[in-house]
Amino acid sequence: MHRRIPTRNQTGWASNQLNEVSERFVAHCRSVSLPVLDIGAAFGLASLAALDSGATVIANDLEPAHLAEIASAVPPAHAARLILIPGRFPRQLRFAANSLSAVHASNVFHFLTGPQLELGLSSIAHWLAPGGRLFVQAATPWQKPFQAFVPVFEERQALRAPWPGWMENTKEYSSHRRLSQIPPSLHLLDSQTLRHAAEAAGLAVEDAWLYRRRDLPASLFLDGRECAGLIAGKPRKS
Ligand SMILES: C[S@@+](CC[C@H](N)C(=O)[O-])C[C@H]1O[C@@H](n2cnc3c(N)ncnc32)[C@H](O)[C@@H]1O
Repeated sequence: MHRRIPTRNQTGWASNQLNEVSERFVAHCRSVSLPVLDIGAAFGLASLAALDSGATVIANDLEPAHLAEIASAVPPAHAARLILIPGRFPRQLRFAANSLSAVHASNVFHFLTGPQLELGLSSIAHWLAPGGRLFVQAATPWQKPFQAFVPVFEERQALRAPWPGWMENTKEYSSHRRLSQIPPSLHLLDSQTLRHAAEAAGLAVEDAWLYRRRDLPASLFLDGRECAGLIAGKPRKS
């Protein structure tokens, strides 16, 4: 049964069911030769599935208590391929150039500012090996609790603002009763913004789309565009 597990640090909820993007990341992990990085891994749903696919997994999270739960959930047979790295992406993470086969970031990019996303995507492009892939799932403005923000977003989009989905103060637009479980500012993203940001970092976008992820709570349903997915690759010649 689908369940949302509140994060310990008020950064939303983790899911207990892989979304469509995470599922594609896990499938990619069956054929990787270098470690993969799961940014904002929370309680390890995607990290544990990636380990099961045979990858060596670096699970990162801002909250060390989340990583401790992954450590206690990992099957002994996979433990040697799990590396836990606490810290805030992007500034607190360092990896060698061309050292990762994949990066997964599910429901974490919407907690980053535009400049953090720029730095984060260029760091990811640096860390990925040629042919490596990035898998992103993020929240869009088309979610019921943020409905009042949609006209603001669309106006900024028409004016070609670089980060149209930045919401400085969520309380200005929403009175949802669970706002205290998310940070006061949020960066709602759409497929176009993600595509431009990934391309600006030198990644080749394979797919960027809007959809309703299978594990989205019904209370967030608006019009089928509640989520954004992005899959991008590091070109083999760069
Ligand atoms: C909403 S949960 C998503 C968990 C999981 N990836 C999923 O899709 O269900 C967000 C997670 O990202 C982590 N997080 C938020 N900002 C982060 C950052 N800048 N660097 C690393 N982790 C971050 C939080 O601690 C939390 O565990």
